[in-house]
Amino acid sequence: MKDMTHSADATTVEEALAADNHQGIVDSEGATALAMQNTLLTPRFYTTDFDEMDAIDVSPVRKDWDLLIDQMKSDPNKGHFKKNEDWDHVDWDGMEPKLKAEFIDFLVSSCTAEFSGCVLYKEMKRRGNNEDIVTLFQLMARDEARHAGFINDALREAGIAVNLGFLTQKKKYTYFRPKFIYYATYLSEKIGYARYITIYRHLEANPELRFHPIFKWFKEWCNDEFSHGEAFALLMKTDPKLTSGVNVLWIKFFLTAVYSTMYVRDHQRPAFHAALGVDPDWYAHEVFTKTSEISKQVFPITLDIDHPRWQKGLVAMQRANADLAMAKKSGNWVKRIGATVRATTAFVSLLTIPAVKHRVPASTRLEPAY
Ligand SMILES: [Fe+2]
Ligand SMILES: [Fe+2]
Repeated sequence: MKDMTHSADATTVEEALAADNHQGIVDSEGATALAMQNTLLTPRFYTTDFDEMDAIDVSPVRKDWDLLIDQMKSDPNKGHFKKNEDWDHVDWDGMEPKLKAEFIDFLVSSCTAEFSGCVLYKEMKRRGNNEDIVTLFQLMARDEARHAGFINDALREAGIAVNLGFLTQKKKYTYFRPKFIYYATYLSEKIGYARYITIYRHLEANPELRFHPIFKWFKEWCNDEFSHGEAFALLMKTDPKLTSGVNVLWIKFFLTAVYSTMYVRDHQRPAFHAALGVDPDWYAHEVFTKTSEISKQVFPITLDIDHPRWQKGLVAMQRANADLAMAKKSGNWVKRIGATVRATTAFVSLLTIPAVKHRVPASTRLEPAY
């Protein structure tokens, strides 16, 4: 018998994507269709001006850069993202149907988000000539391919897999200028860290609520995302213009969009959060607090998440989105327009809350501390 290869053991992104656990797609139409969706709330695929990104000169942050790259090259999580004796049996057939549906939705959307990062980073690595940039993006693509492969392992047990090759070819790519890629990707890496570590610590204290073994892997997982976020913080630090002047308004826009999208998306999965024993409002506040604390390393502002209009705006946006989904289903155009106006108004209300200003430290480097 041929030795099985696994993405967890791969040293490059190419090897990870060619591993056996990334192949053999079964019964995947429903999951792939879900992953193909392009709404404001589903993970997207991005493309950018790769030449502009390739031209970045990291010399202003050279010392921190080399330390980070060395740490990523040392690859502490090699071999980690696959099932071992800690992987408990999962009773998919016995799982309560609503929980099962929401959990599968969670896994598919997480897998799509991991793969979205993988595709973008791999493309930058392929197109680039700048040794520093190519090295970084190869390392990050490697990690994301492992993460996506591991989620697909979990999904396969439920008879589902996301067809990642199909997604690469057929999913729509959204173009973002490099600076928008930095803001969006930096935040998604850091909020990803904050989300996973919050769930991990909660289940560490309440192991009886861990209804699936994948949560046991979240600590090492989010440390990878933390490093990726560190890399984007350093990239932004190479050019002070990226985090000053009019760009501070863009940072505020991305912070508001990323936070409020997370809130709305999580509130679409009540059974999933109930099973974990997590109140989605508490969870959102925890994750925003951690992400804000971390993002002070490079952003001169944070959102005022304790402002009286903050929680109100989130709730209004979430209700408008729920109504919008219902109106879309029933084909009611009047209700659809009404809900869109309400969602937009709520977003503007969040966006116009005055931000909290900070002095940014000279060196950005942080270690995962939660
Ligand atoms: Fe990842
Ligand atoms: Fe990542």
